[in-house]
Amino acid sequence: DKSGHKHFMAKEMAEQPAILKAALGFYSGLDSDTLELPEGIDFARTDRLIMVACGTAYYACQVAKYWFEKYAGLPVELDIASEYRYRDPVLGRDNMALFVSQSGETADTLAALRHVRPHVAQVVSVVNVLTSSIARESDIALPIHAGPEIGVASTKAFTAQLLVLAVLALEAGRARGFLSAEDYARLVEDLRSLPGFMAQALDREGEIERLTKMLSQARDVLFLGRGTMYPMAHEGALKLKEISYIHAEAYAAGELKHGPIALIDSDFPVIVFAPFDGLYDKTVSNMQEVMARQGEVLLISDPAGLKAAGEVPHSLQMPPVPELIAPIVYAVPAQLIAYHTALHRGTDVDQPRNLAKSVTVE
Ligand code: M6R
Repeated sequence: DKSGHKHFMAKEMAEQPAILKAALGFYSGLDSDTLELPEGIDFARTDRLIMVACGTAYYACQVAKYWFEKYAGLPVELDIASEYRYRDPVLGRDNMALFVSQSGETADTLAALRHVRPHVAQVVSVVNVLTSSIARESDIALPIHAGPEIGVASTKAFTAQLLVLAVLALEAGRARGFLSAEDYARLVEDLRSLPGFMAQALDREGEIERLTKMLSQARDVLFLGRGTMYPMAHEGALKLKEISYIHAEAYAAGELKHGPIALIDSDFPVIVFAPFDGLYDKTVSNMQEVMARQGEVLLISDPAGLKAAGEVPHSLQMPPVPELIAPIVYAVPAQLIAYHTALHRGTDVDQPRNLAKSVTVE
């Protein structure tokens, strides 16, 4: 049932504020100032976190790596599940392994879980399906509470995964005595503001629909970001490839001059995720390098960031959001850009060619 929406993907994007609100309720303590995880997750004893996932779930982990380092001082190792098993990872008895999977049935992720299980202190998973193999074979499975996701392109599961990973990172920071009480309280408050900001981001849909007319004519699209916006660039590129069949790539903004800038000409749209934060100036100077070569730039930023950038070919205004939740809120334009570009091109957004919702072969 698409509840009046044209596609499951549209319905699932629209559900995000409500889902995140409910998930926040699930992971809240008795008073609203604290978060709470199920019993037994032992971050105090963990000396290293190993995260493994595929596709969109991998990009959620890539964002979470910044969070675990910044808010919990916890060393993180991250890999794509299909690669993880084919190296010889050095595991320690005080390591925690964390697997993220919407379906909980992704063959490579499950195989990686079985591979590390005997060697680590704890196996934790973040899943949408609690009865799944990955959930059952973990010591602790944390639900994302996104409800069934039908669209092959993951949307609400991605932002709900990010929310649960943010809760984990803040609780790790607290358990490890890394975050001060004031910082913890402020970050929990930031997390609580998420559903409202998601609704504001979804309100930009009309404008995104107009902007994507230009993208739908492109042969290639480049996404750029720095910090947590770098994984968002990857997520934007993956969504666009999946459902519009336009070749899209993501680069860390600073890598541009190490090769890909050679591709830039006036036919090459470049989408830049750059909220007005501590990394803004650096990213915008990379964006100016693209503009100097007539690249068709679309800058996605907040009012302060758009003002500071001056004239840009295309821009999309986002609300000013706290740094912690920015990657979750900026996921919305990444999703809507892919969705509307695909609609302009007339592709099947819910059931793109060659893809399955759950990848159970290695
Ligand atoms: O069920 P999982 O989260 O383990 O699936 C992982 C990937 O197959 C999945 O995220 C895929 O990349 C999506 N189609 C992306 O939109």
